[in-house]
Amino acid sequence: MVKGQVVAITGASSGIGKATALELARLGAKLMLGARHEEALLQVAEEIRAAGGEAVYRITDVSRREDLLKLVHLAQETFGQLDVLFSNAGAMPIGPFDELAVDDWETMVDVNIKGVLFGIAAALPVFRQQGSGHFIHTASTAARKTVPNQVVYSATKAAVLALSDGLRQELAGQIRVSTILPGFTDTAFSEHVKNPEMKAQMQKAGEKFAMSPETVARAVVYILEQPEGVNIGEVTLRSKAQA
Ligand SMILES: NC(=O)c1ccc[n+]([C@@H]2O[C@H](COP(=O)([O-])OP(=O)(O)OC[C@H]3O[C@@H](n4cnc5c(N)ncnc54)[C@H](OP(=O)(O)O)[C@@H]3O)[C@@H](O)[C@H]2O)c1
Repeated sequence: MVKGQVVAITGASSGIGKATALELARLGAKLMLGARHEEALLQVAEEIRAAGGEAVYRITDVSRREDLLKLVHLAQETFGQLDVLFSNAGAMPIGPFDELAVDDWETMVDVNIKGVLFGIAAALPVFRQQGSGHFIHTASTAARKTVPNQVVYSATKAAVLALSDGLRQELAGQIRVSTILPGFTDTAFSEHVKNPEMKAQMQKAGEKFAMSPETVARAVVYILEQPEGVNIGEVTLRSKAQA
């Protein structure tokens, strides 16, 4: 049941994170929103509150360990507990290896892998103390299908899959761990691709394939609506048009 659950979401200012926050709030969850851009976070929080829901936000850079600790702490302080951490923030500055865009490789490792690990480090002690909790991580279909020019991104998402599967096994019995693997989704994601050729390719593919972020939000709801004894390990979803 989603109603009454306290859910912290990273990357809640846009796209999948925002759509999920709005949907969970509509269903009665209490939201702790995290991302770097305050104005966008404030807008999401206000939209939730205007519809009668509950939401607070904190500026959060997931590549900073202390930001995740503070996000989790604020959720506990505000709502008395934390039931779900949805580690969803992601970065995709893709390009061919020949560009040697090492800073971009580091960004993807810092946000996509370390961001998830720092979330685990922040929330696991809380979940252990409560005797319950749920980690949900956003990977990607790119975790399973490596495409040239997106290899580092794929590798970071494959890492998310691996660490989520291992975490699920270690925490079995008390804490749930789920991963969603979306295909192309209609968000601001490709806008952040710097390489103009890659960006054009992504946008063209997006026009053909992209599903709505609300579709992904409904997959998160499905994960959360299972009976207490059931753990959905992975949900892969893509538009019918995407191979
Ligand atoms: N769109 C797709 O086709 C697709 C497909 C598969 C998987 N995904 C995954 O879905 C997730 C959400 O992406 P999206 O598609 O919804 O794209 P989006 O609209 O660009 O959202 C990305 C979110 O991540 C946040 N973010 C980026 N860097 C961050 C950092 N260092 N610290 C905290 N937050 C950070 C952004 O907020 P701020 O900029 O405000 O920090 C934003 O809220 C990502 O993990 C992505 O890999 C997307």
